[in-house]
Amino acid sequence: MKRPQQPIGLFDSGFGGLTVMKEVALALPQENLVYFGDTAHLPYGNKSPETILQFALNNATFLMNQNIKLLVIACHSACSHALQTLQEKLPIPVIGITEAGLRLAEQREKIAILATTSTIQSGIYQKALSHKEHFAIDCPLFVPLIEEGYHDHPSTRLIAESYLNSIQGKVDSILLACTHYPLIKPTLEKIFGPTVSLIEPAKLCAEQVRLYLTHNHLLNTQTEFPSLKFYVSDDPEKFKRLGKIFFGKAIEKVEKK
Ligand code: DGL
Repeated sequence: MKRPQQPIGLFDSGFGGLTVMKEVALALPQENLVYFGDTAHLPYGNKSPETILQFALNNATFLMNQNIKLLVIACHSACSHALQTLQEKLPIPVIGITEAGLRLAEQREKIAILATTSTIQSGIYQKALSHKEHFAIDCPLFVPLIEEGYHDHPSTRLIAESYLNSIQGKVDSILLACTHYPLIKPTLEKIFGPTVSLIEPAKLCAEQVRLYLTHNHLLNTQTEFPSLKFYVSDDPEKFKRLGKIFFGKAIEKVEKK
């Protein structure tokens, strides 16, 4: 029997999922949240489907042991290879960031999907969008650049231009199908200008969580401050330092799994 006081769990390969957690915390300010960043194994985006699935299963087991009531997979690369398996295996609801991404992409006409190599190779977005004009582009250097703090840097702009010049003038929307990519929005805005919308699925994902909890009478209505816990599989200090850029505010305490 699940109870409203139980936390919501979220995981990502490392930092990117914090952009999703930020939206969940804003949409559901009374919820207890527990985040796991698998920093010892990042990036997921250049790993094989089997490896990503195994990491995702391990992450889900860790969060299940934190007694979560719902799991959010806050990583497109992990969702691409593990969402269905986790939805089948876990005794709790599992919501993947790709579900919001797919919903938003469906609503657009000429769209480009930017993601990691593993997400693009899974074909998850291309299959769902096969009836409309779309471009699927993997941008493997974005994650390391963002993690080095180069999210708004001339070198990132050069690399982005070389990945994306071929779609200039051909799209009206770009889906940021990697939870790291919201950080390079300013760079992409400079390249594409105001006529191309940059779509981030995190807000809709948070809304999907809110709706599920509401319909299933699992919303936490506590009046005290919620607990936000952060766990990682590698250096907690590095996570604190970099994590605040993704989360939008300081992260006080990080524990190693
Ligand atoms: N944040 C992950 C995603 O959404 C990508 C980062 C990585 O490659 O580990 O796909």
